[in-house]
Amino acid sequence: ISVGNLVVIFENFDSSNFCYAEKGKIFNNRNGHFHHDDFIGKPYGCKIRSRNNRGWGFVYLLKPTPELWSQSLNHRTQIIHFLDASMIVFYLNIRPNMVICESGTGSGALSHCIMRSIAPKGMLHTYEFNQQRAETAKLEFANNGVSHISEVHHKDVCGKHGPGGFDRPQSSVDAIVLDLPEPWSAVPYAAHCIKPNSRIVSYSPCVEQAQKTIIAMKTSGFHSIKTMEFRLKENYVDE
Ligand SMILES: C[S@@+](CC[C@H](N)C(=O)[O-])C[C@H]1O[C@@H](n2cnc3c(N)ncnc32)[C@H](O)[C@@H]1O
Repeated sequence: ISVGNLVVIFENFDSSNFCYAEKGKIFNNRNGHFHHDDFIGKPYGCKIRSRNNRGWGFVYLLKPTPELWSQSLNHRTQIIHFLDASMIVFYLNIRPNMVICESGTGSGALSHCIMRSIAPKGMLHTYEFNQQRAETAKLEFANNGVSHISEVHHKDVCGKHGPGGFDRPQSSVDAIVLDLPEPWSAVPYAAHCIKPNSRIVSYSPCVEQAQKTIIAMKTSGFHSIKTMEFRLKENYVDE
């Protein structure tokens, strides 16, 4: 771990946090006080003991992945968690060097999953109409070293406040993800900029939203539409 590196601080399976390693700084949590100076020069994955509490407290310093980042980031909105995020990336066939559009950016959780898959030379155009969230996402992408494969647009893609859409050339985008309260309003704009025979996903928590979005998709020429829900079932198996 070097100065400036992003470190995911694993406290336990229900709680993790993050910091950027900086000389002289201290990370405090309920487990104790952890000095960044103790992080620098250590390998990712190591266990660090608190300097107070006679070293009873400890954390693990983990190398960031989109999944760990989603668990530790500051939630500004609801986020798409790893199960749904992985199915979205899979069903959209997202691959290295693709151009992807996403709206809204929200907390940037899904954005990081997409960026991992389009690296090293792809581009994620992500659109957010809340200015504060757009600025925070832009800053986080820069701090996390992914601003070369992302562009954050402060924009209402549904066109209620000014012209909507994605401002991309016609038939130029490889895949589109919508995580919006009114995705059906963005679908005609998505149809304009997506490449022929490419895929769109709309992520909605309720069936009424899905119904309206399906109608908009059919009207805009999309076909073979599927509605899916994913559930993770863990099995605990003893020897
Ligand atoms: C549920 S959050 C997205 C979370 C994101 N997928 C993640 O994983 O972090 C929805 C976001 O869409 C934004 N939004 C809602 N309507 C919008 C619109 N018309 N244009 C752009 N962004 C919009 C909201 O401000 C909010 O930040």
